[in-house]
Amino acid sequence: MRLPTLNPNFFHIFVHMILLTGATGLVGSHLLYDLVSGGRKVRAMKRENSRLELVRDLFSWYDPDKGEALFGQVEWVDADLSDITSLQEAVRDIRYIYHCAATVSFQPRDRQVMMKANVEGTANLVNVALQNEVEKFCHCSSVAALGTPLPGEVVQESLIWKTSGSHSCYAISKYGAEREVWRASEEGMDVVIINPTVIIGPGDPSRSSAQLYQSVNKGLKFYTSGVNGFVDARDVARAMVLLMEGDQVNERFIANSENLPFKELFDSFARSAKVEPPKYRVGRWMSDLAWRLEAGRAFLTGSKPLLSKETARNAHNKRYFSNEKIRVALDIRFRPVSEATENTAGFFRKYPDYL
Ligand SMILES: NC(=O)c1ccc[n+]([C@@H]2O[C@H](COP(=O)([O-])OP(=O)(O)OC[C@H]3O[C@@H](n4cnc5c(N)ncnc54)[C@H](OP(=O)(O)O)[C@@H]3O)[C@@H](O)[C@H]2O)c1
Repeated sequence: MRLPTLNPNFFHIFVHMILLTGATGLVGSHLLYDLVSGGRKVRAMKRENSRLELVRDLFSWYDPDKGEALFGQVEWVDADLSDITSLQEAVRDIRYIYHCAATVSFQPRDRQVMMKANVEGTANLVNVALQNEVEKFCHCSSVAALGTPLPGEVVQESLIWKTSGSHSCYAISKYGAEREVWRASEEGMDVVIINPTVIIGPGDPSRSSAQLYQSVNKGLKFYTSGVNGFVDARDVARAMVLLMEGDQVNERFIANSENLPFKELFDSFARSAKVEPPKYRVGRWMSDLAWRLEAGRAFLTGSKPLLSKETARNAHNKRYFSNEKIRVALDIRFRPVSEATENTAGFFRKYPDYL
């Protein structure tokens, strides 16, 4: 096995406090566990009303004996990406930042919130990081911030974004966030960017990709013909730590395990959750009808639509992602998606009240 190349400041990472944003989210909570269980000192950013119960339970899920004690080692700080004063407090005496906080939504009504949190929020954070001479910044981006492939083309890190009317609000906000991070690298800060595909793992089932498990568990009946990349939350966390602590600088890396039809992901979730898999394939025209009906229902009832135009259309896209660059750089092995769905189902079997 090839030995990984170390950042010359590797040992500093164990001495200095690390700042992690988005620590209560799916990616952030897994990264927090990876960092703290690996002996790093972490200041974890949360908002005043953030909920910590699931993060604590996640620590106990991964380490039934020491999880509670490890969770107790986290230094929590209240800050919001839109509040520069709170960010200055959070970044004080920090040398390394992992940035996982963002709003993840495909609802057009969340556009403003997403632009504010993801683009302006990242600009605020990198500005404060630059002022504080932070040494390295690891940014959690998304494959949504890469360019749009031609049919059948395998997406690689070099695929350049071209502005067009077909991008989701989420993709536009993640692309804008990445630009802020590239600006910071131009202004002298070492940065490294990870672009994960759809992340699978135990997390708040009312938000982000953690909703996928919830819908299958609740008896999802329909599936579409789409294909996408999927990756385990534990592997995204591990890859981020390796990128931060390695000598990778001013580069981006796709994190992906497998490219699978949605049907296979749903079947894997259903097997893990011991429920019936979705049976009925939905064509494009049916999805188009469904999101319009759903938008009408949401308008009349004042509730959040369960399906948006963007999610309905994305569900039919066939996207394939290469993980070659990150595998070669980090010598990392990605868990198969079936392990990620088993892990997710196992967590919710132990903590069913979250569902
Ligand atoms: N999930 C995926 O499939 C996926 C795939 C590719 C990339 N990503 C990227 O991974 C990152 C994390 O996503 P996730 O799935 O972990 O999302 P998540 O579970 O929804 O977590 C989002 C986190 O961001 C925090 N946050 C949101 N707005 C904030 C603000 N204004 N100030 C401070 N904190 C704020 C949330 O805090 P609260 O607890 O207070 O709400 C939460 O900790 C995002 O950048 C996302 O784009 C996710």
